[in-house]
Amino acid sequence: MRNPIYVALDVPSPEKALQLVESLSSSVAGFKVGKELFVSAGPDLVRRIRAAGASVFLDLKFHDIPNTVAKAVAAATRLDVQMLTLHASGGAEMMRAAEEAAQETARGLNRPAPVVLGVTVLTSMAREDLNQVGVAADVGAQVTRLVSLGVQSGLRGFVCSPLEVAGLRSLAPESTAWVTPGIRGPGDAAGDQKRTLSAAEAIEAGATWLVIGRPICADPNPKAAAERILATLRPTA
Ligand code: C5P
Repeated sequence: MRNPIYVALDVPSPEKALQLVESLSSSVAGFKVGKELFVSAGPDLVRRIRAAGASVFLDLKFHDIPNTVAKAVAAATRLDVQMLTLHASGGAEMMRAAEEAAQETARGLNRPAPVVLGVTVLTSMAREDLNQVGVAADVGAQVTRLVSLGVQSGLRGFVCSPLEVAGLRSLAPESTAWVTPGIRGPGDAAGDQKRTLSAAEAIEAGATWLVIGRPICADPNPKAAAERILATLRPTA
């Protein structure tokens, strides 16, 4: 079975991140580099993770005018990341420009394009927060609207809650990548995650990739933690 685990490197220093990469590379599919680590350690860290042979999910959630986002996506493609994020609320033209930039840049380099993932409604936002910024829809309707717009704009993947994925899959082609954070096992501390599923439940619901942070990185033995989660995904018979 394909290994679906991307480990969220939510650590402040490149040294700590590279230690995790070294110990976990052979047990996971790749690593998510987010804003904290990228702002402190920069593209050089991404190059070092790629040089170690691991895949990178660059989670910078771009949201800007189409030309600016296209240039950022082209730069991320040159860095050779495998997935990256933008806010679907940036609009159809922005998403189209991003997808085209990923495809064109990758074609020029003769490598596969990274999957540009749409982020719909942040899980920190409830209906009142949407209303405050002028969105009258409830969260579910807004997520549906943004996934549909993302599909029409050529996106080939989305980030969503594991609890949403089953309901969203029918809106997009079968080949769409569904990336789900909010993964917790029965014994894991929830932390600030409120709506979670286990890794096996998320895969069952249709997730393609699982983003897992603290249940692996905060474990005294991260490699054993990753392998424990992986074992729950493999058929036992
Ligand atoms: O430690 P934990 O497993 O909760 O990490 C989940 C990762 O996924 C974090 O990097 C978090 O920022 C990210 N994420 C999330 N929920 C979202 C979007 C991203 O937990 N809706």
